[in-house]
Amino acid sequence: MSQSTSQADAPVANIGVVGLAVMGSNLARNLASREGNTVAVYNRSYGRTETLMAEHPEAGFVAAETIDEFVASLTTPRTAIIMVQAGAGTDAVIAQLTERFEPGDIIVDGGNANFHDTIAREKAVSETGIHFVGTGISGGEEGALLGPSIMPGGSAEAYETLGPILESIAAVVDGTPCVTHIGTDGAGHFVKTIHNGIEYADMQLIAEAFDLLRNATGLSPAEIADVFAEWNTGELESYLIEITAEVLRQVDAKTGRPFVDVVLDQAGSKGTGVWTVQTALGLGVPVSGIAEAVFARALSSKPAQRQAAAGLPGPATGWEVTDQTAFIEDVRRALYASKIVAYSQGFDTIIAGANEYGWDIKKGDVATIWRGGCIIRAAFLNRITEAYAENPDLVALVAAPYFADAVAGAQESWRRVVAGAAQAGIPTPGFSSSLAYYDGLRAERLPAALVQAQRDFFGAHTYKRVDRDGTFHTLWSGDRTEVEQD
Ligand code: 6PG
Repeated sequence: MSQSTSQADAPVANIGVVGLAVMGSNLARNLASREGNTVAVYNRSYGRTETLMAEHPEAGFVAAETIDEFVASLTTPRTAIIMVQAGAGTDAVIAQLTERFEPGDIIVDGGNANFHDTIAREKAVSETGIHFVGTGISGGEEGALLGPSIMPGGSAEAYETLGPILESIAAVVDGTPCVTHIGTDGAGHFVKTIHNGIEYADMQLIAEAFDLLRNATGLSPAEIADVFAEWNTGELESYLIEITAEVLRQVDAKTGRPFVDVVLDQAGSKGTGVWTVQTALGLGVPVSGIAEAVFARALSSKPAQRQAAAGLPGPATGWEVTDQTAFIEDVRRALYASKIVAYSQGFDTIIAGANEYGWDIKKGDVATIWRGGCIIRAAFLNRITEAYAENPDLVALVAAPYFADAVAGAQESWRRVVAGAAQAGIPTPGFSSSLAYYDGLRAERLPAALVQAQRDFFGAHTYKRVDRDGTFHTLWSGDRTEVEQD
């Protein structure tokens, strides 16, 4: 039975949730459904708390009307998970809890916070002796309720108390809960951000595959749903492919048209994709596939520009596919190869971020906890775990034996798809940029030599030579002799 509490009541809840919008409510219900948990719940407006209590008496929630009641209902060390909108709302709740908590208590931020904010918050809160744990939680509403993938940062000491609670609510794959202590302070939110960047790329690539199939074959969305369902039985098996088939099968009740055709073609975003790209740019990591996915959403959301460009000329003819089965297989392979590039770029960013911020992030463990619960869960994450188990210092996922073979097997299809799309005027920024990245990485020699020479010409930025050690500058505006620098 649910109960409400007052300050006079003895503390009974081993965990509390602040913020009872759908993610917070579902996480609280998930916590309450696990053996041994008693969950305190608090929301700024009590009406939402009352609704949750009324709808889920089985959860045995301890409802608090005020933040004081909430804190009083928690057993020590007090542990509270904040599930409010990232930003000012989070700061306000942190301030309320910090005022009332004691050293050793734990404040968890389960929202999609910017990891730089998490680093700063952890620093400020930990000065009071209270633990602050920024935690990535992935899986949407259903994941929060039934088992998300959880990416906690913060101190190892806080994880000792928090870990078992999070392990009890996480998704489980092959007996392993999809949660691991990612690293200190902002490491959890950092990895969640990169997860989302990969999510953006994966979604964009799937959307491009759909667009190609539709434009080049004339198959209906429902028929393409069957193609995706078939793909979901092989190496592309993943949550995003699965839900794509479901979305494409959906018929709009009002018009009888395919649902995908009545949705406005302008994709929104809440910022984590942008953060991934900003972070990677700062770290010097080429996340071209992820960046193109962010740009594609931005381009889609510019109706005035799109309208102004709508009459610009394109190719005279579209793609005339003669062998539909072979074409579909080409698109499948191009999708798989591009997806490998997106994950490879994401893991590169994790490696660079770990170096920059001093986090000991185990890449194989990250892949392991992404196998279940989260939006990018996919069968091939097992292959990523294996690749890092085999070689923890792997410098490029795309070059690991399994992935190198996969891409080698796909590359001819990939080239046909990208070339054909360009000929037919079908935009494939994800496929194309991933292929260019692959070709750039494997190139024996890049035109970067010319760029470096240009830099030296106009800015005396110097260059190195292929045949001698040292740093050089050519006197471009003088007699063009080469001068070795000190
Ligand atoms: C998840 C999702 C979730 C949300 C993102 C993406 O892992 O459960 O990533 O966090 O869907 O915020 O949102 P946008 O596409 O709106 O940026």
